[in-house]
Amino acid sequence: LQLDQASLTELKQLETKLLSEYGEFNSAGLNLDLTRGKPSAEQLGLSNALLGGLHDDFLSEDGTDTRNYGGLAGIPDARRMGAELLSLTPAQVMAGDNSSLTVMYQTFLFSYLFGPGDNSKPWQSENAKFLCFVPGYDRHFSICEEFGVEMVNVPMTDTGPDMDQVEALVREDNSIKGMWCVPKYSNPTGVTYSDETVQRLAKLGQMAPKNFRIFWDNAYAVHDIANVTQPLANLMEYCKQFGTEDSVFLFASTSKISFAGAGISFLGASEKNLTWFQSHYGILSIGPNKVNQLRHSRFFPTLESLKGHMQKHAEFLRPRFACALEHLKMNFANSDLVVWEEPEGGYFISVDTRPGLAKQIVAMAADVGVKLTPAGATFPYRRDPQDRNIRLAPSVPTLEQVDEAMKVFVNCTKLASVREAISSKR
Ligand SMILES: Cc1ncc(COP(=O)(O)O)c(C=O)c1O
Repeated sequence: LQLDQASLTELKQLETKLLSEYGEFNSAGLNLDLTRGKPSAEQLGLSNALLGGLHDDFLSEDGTDTRNYGGLAGIPDARRMGAELLSLTPAQVMAGDNSSLTVMYQTFLFSYLFGPGDNSKPWQSENAKFLCFVPGYDRHFSICEEFGVEMVNVPMTDTGPDMDQVEALVREDNSIKGMWCVPKYSNPTGVTYSDETVQRLAKLGQMAPKNFRIFWDNAYAVHDIANVTQPLANLMEYCKQFGTEDSVFLFASTSKISFAGAGISFLGASEKNLTWFQSHYGILSIGPNKVNQLRHSRFFPTLESLKGHMQKHAEFLRPRFACALEHLKMNFANSDLVVWEEPEGGYFISVDTRPGLAKQIVAMAADVGVKLTPAGATFPYRRDPQDRNIRLAPSVPTLEQVDEAMKVFVNCTKLASVREAISSKR
């Protein structure tokens, strides 16, 4: 379907057909939801055995009684798991409570109030700005917004952020104090950063001020949907080469591995940065939930066992993603209506419509009972300058529901696009 080449008569015929289909959806009384980037109940069920007791053995491998206070950095068993997820040494990793987003917020807060690392200036004293790669993860952007840290958009490409822009901005503007990265199966584009991108990011610490930090949120480190895994270069190894180990904070969690509300989180950093973090974190906590850490360490004794578990997740996710992608392909391949990336992991499909239509499409779908993530949510301040990005999340609905919801999405997208083409030809 090429709208730019269609005649006005053809477009009007198409509009009539699409409108009648839309009317049918309207009378069907649908109640579907493609907004939730979280595991389905079946996926959560894969980890139920974790809830079994610890069989009266509450000691971690170094003999710590996990039921008691203390152990700010987490138990060694769990720190090793985090180290494997983040490709670091256990000494470079803290294991924490149930949310990496909370740890990101805390790291940001401490950096803002006290400066990231010893003897570095607090961000609050320097009108800090952050680079945000777009489209991206709304909750990262909300943290910046909460602190009044100005966000500067940099577009994503199919190898990660546009690194020429990133380097130019960091070089020219000392008030840029960091950036948010989702390096593997990025939320929402699904892109994994190329080796060159990782290398160039690691080098930024050489040209940035001392209180600059990359927030490396590897939320989807082992979350393959396809049968192959996308390789991700080792950020800290490159940092070591460039002497920039202190310029990065790394994050991960088991949220989409075990339980999204009751997993464990990880903070990775140079040992110097970890000591700095603990100097503040130790004021707000006596130690994390080590019982839950031990449960996880017993449930996933090796990285291989964890990867095997992730294959079971993939079996639930694969048909849902395949279904959504098939609708896009069948309807929009070689069209001038939408472009999208085919993700090989993560939880999202990112779709770009013709400019100016995303809000309208989301509203039209909502009117017939299909909830889509609000247009703009994937941009800082919820403002998509081109109003064209829509994030689809097919993990929670059943396959039949994904199928039905995608029919509506396709119809609304075509209808909005055809109408726009008609009005531009008039
Ligand atoms: C990129 C990214 N980071 C972090 C999170 C949340 O992680 P956690 O559950 O560990 O707080 C999500 C959840 O969707 C995410 O997409």
